[in-house]
Amino acid sequence: MSFDLSVIPNKNIVLAVTGGIAAYKSAILVRRLKDAGFNIRVVMTQGALAFITPLTFQALSGNPVHTELLNPEAEAGMGHIELARWADLLLVAPATCDTLAKFATGLADDLLSTLYLATKAPVWVVPAMNQQMWAAKATQRNLATLVDDGVHVIMPDSGSQACGDVGLGRMPEPEAIAYQVKAYFHQAQRAIAEKFGLLAGKRVAITAGPTREAIDPVRYISNHSTGKMGFALAAACYAAGAKVTLIAGPVSLDTPNGVRRVNVQSALQMLDQSLAQLQEGCDIFIATAAVADYRVAEVAEHKIKKSGDELAVNLVKNPDIVATIAQQEKRPFMVGFAAETRQVEEYAAGKLVAKKLDMIACNDVSRADIGFASDQNAMTVFFADQYQLDKRDLEKASKQEISQQLVEAIHDALHFNSLKKDEL
Ligand code: C5P
Repeated sequence: MSFDLSVIPNKNIVLAVTGGIAAYKSAILVRRLKDAGFNIRVVMTQGALAFITPLTFQALSGNPVHTELLNPEAEAGMGHIELARWADLLLVAPATCDTLAKFATGLADDLLSTLYLATKAPVWVVPAMNQQMWAAKATQRNLATLVDDGVHVIMPDSGSQACGDVGLGRMPEPEAIAYQVKAYFHQAQRAIAEKFGLLAGKRVAITAGPTREAIDPVRYISNHSTGKMGFALAAACYAAGAKVTLIAGPVSLDTPNGVRRVNVQSALQMLDQSLAQLQEGCDIFIATAAVADYRVAEVAEHKIKKSGDELAVNLVKNPDIVATIAQQEKRPFMVGFAAETRQVEEYAAGKLVAKKLDMIACNDVSRADIGFASDQNAMTVFFADQYQLDKRDLEKASKQEISQQLVEAIHDALHFNSLKKDEL
């Protein structure tokens, strides 16, 4: 089993650095964990301050460094209890004999030892010390206690030590530690997905169907979209454990079980409702709607009377809903669709970039057997470069089956990223 570098969003790690020479490696460790998408806050013991400066960790983590327990100023920022709650993992690297002894006996006389007792997060220690100190009975006894208490130990490497000795006690390289941390979060994610569904707890908004742009009180401009793809996706997302809101244009389809539906007519209404979803909190936004590109500049107040052989109606451009949402500061994971009749993949890849999407599913609507009103579809999915995921060809299948595969693609991009599926 091997893992590629991958990005794990929204997980918080408190990295505690204690007073050993290996503290210099912790600076690189912060870099590697940041690369993997973790939020990092660094705690330093008084011993660590003798080896490396807080400024280094502040610059690398992008957060203030925590060094004291009884400092009113620091406690007014993020105090020790808040820090304990913030952590999804407390990683102590390097962990000295002294730290292990404190943890094992439950002493709480500085910030780190207090944090250790106050956090519900898993605790990992990476002991690093002179080989004789590592072998000492007291150290081994303390380690056994910690393992008993549920602490995970990353074992030291063997080799030449800063003190000139050769033996067990070297802190593993930052890449190896970061790798184990990533693997742990991947496995935790996978366990959640297996138990509760691929999109467990995610809030999903989906636009679907056509929009109707009024000309006068009785006439409108629209298109042939049936909304089937969006409705099938809404059902698939709900089945995968998501909370789903369907923002539907005028279609004659039943609302899928468990899905909340908001009906709209025009593109402007669809945009308003989409922005409202963002306000309510939305993790994934999927745009399947065939939004009318133009609307009538001035909608007639009364029915337009038949007069003369020609009638000119002025049209103005509608806003691009998916692109507007993608530009918001707190944007969800954005999925777009592209229906093309030629150069399908090239145009779709262009839209992925132009609309700042995370993922786009495209199909060739010139094929008579798939697309718009059909119950079947075949698609190619592209991901934004940062996900380092290859494009996926989804073979012709029912819109339900295609939806299931799209849910998997969203899940993979969100959680596993560049993790190669066949290596799991
Ligand atoms: O540019 P084009 O219409 O081909 O882009 C298709 C994608 O953009 C679809 O995901 C569609 O739902 C979305 N879109 C939108 N608002 C528009 C036009 C398209 O959200 N005004």
